[in-house]
Amino acid sequence: MENKRFRSGMSAGDDIDSRIVMPSFKEEDADVEFSLRPRYLADYIGQKEVKESLAISIGAAKKRGEPLDHVLFYGPPGLGKTTLATVIANEEGVNIRTTSGPAISHAGDLAAILTNLNAGDVLFIDEIHRLNPVVEEVLYPAMEDFAVDIIVGKGPSARSIRLDLPRFTLIGATTKAGMLSSPLRDRFGIVHRLLPYETGDLVRIITRSASLPRVGAIIEPEGALEIARRSRGTPRIANRLLMRVRDYADMKNDGVISADCAREALDKMGIDPLGLDSVDRNLLLCMIEKFGGGPVGLDTLAASTGEESSTIEDVCEPYLLQMGFIARTPRGRVVTPLGCKHLGRTLPGMEQGGAEQQSFSL
Ligand code: ADE
Repeated sequence: MENKRFRSGMSAGDDIDSRIVMPSFKEEDADVEFSLRPRYLADYIGQKEVKESLAISIGAAKKRGEPLDHVLFYGPPGLGKTTLATVIANEEGVNIRTTSGPAISHAGDLAAILTNLNAGDVLFIDEIHRLNPVVEEVLYPAMEDFAVDIIVGKGPSARSIRLDLPRFTLIGATTKAGMLSSPLRDRFGIVHRLLPYETGDLVRIITRSASLPRVGAIIEPEGALEIARRSRGTPRIANRLLMRVRDYADMKNDGVISADCAREALDKMGIDPLGLDSVDRNLLLCMIEKFGGGPVGLDTLAASTGEESSTIEDVCEPYLLQMGFIARTPRGRVVTPLGCKHLGRTLPGMEQGGAEQQSFSL
């Protein structure tokens, strides 16, 4: 059977799960990631509109002496949904209880969590689109009336009793807003979409993280810029790259992260100047060389690259689409002239003016 964990173009040790550009949360990075997260709005960089709007909502709720309305954050992984939930709890001076949709398998589990909350607490449910529908039903009266209906007894003698809950704030996070049922979506009073970060904001995040005791790196502005440009608009990836570049700088450059040092370290990791790694480049190459640039369907692409469809769809595609390197058509995915140019390739019919620009093959 084919070994799904290694791909052509990756070397031994490049386990697919260890892809550094994977925006999803990795358990082994948890310690570092937590220590770099901002705790208050004042330290939170980027997402300007969301921040301004939250500051008003939190201020108004505090003024009224009420808990904040329920909040839904949606957007790609790694953009700070969990961080913002923690920031909200800190700003309000309340406790946060964190869980996730798939972790709550029974209605009783959610009822137990809800009945253990204190007044004003934040309940954060990550991946809320993955809540089991039976569990989701428990949330409706909890969100709307601050109550849970519990069935006591079995058979004909079973009856429902209503337990009052303290007033709390539910914060839901999802990468797939379209998968949320409308009764659930409609119960959130505050809804924010998180967008990829500007390079300037990533530079500030990297500079801030480098200055924290947990990292303690000496970083030059151009070094931060080099890392920011390769971070796919995602603070989680930026901080991960920073840690790796810091190690490289410690060994090779007296601990100073200059532009040259960052460039060298990131090139060695296989992260190109626009943040693509070997898996992304293989995907583009496969589309160009095997399918004449497309259109090609997701499953065909998965079979040809040896990649999981979900990795292509959830990790590679969002960034390649954002960069304008691929496009989706009704007949499948196609590589754009920009995508070809990035790899220094041409497709039949686009030889002129196509690939003379700088191209990358690490
Ligand atoms: N670390 C991760 N995300 C951050 C953000 N948005 N602002 C500051 N530091 C961060």
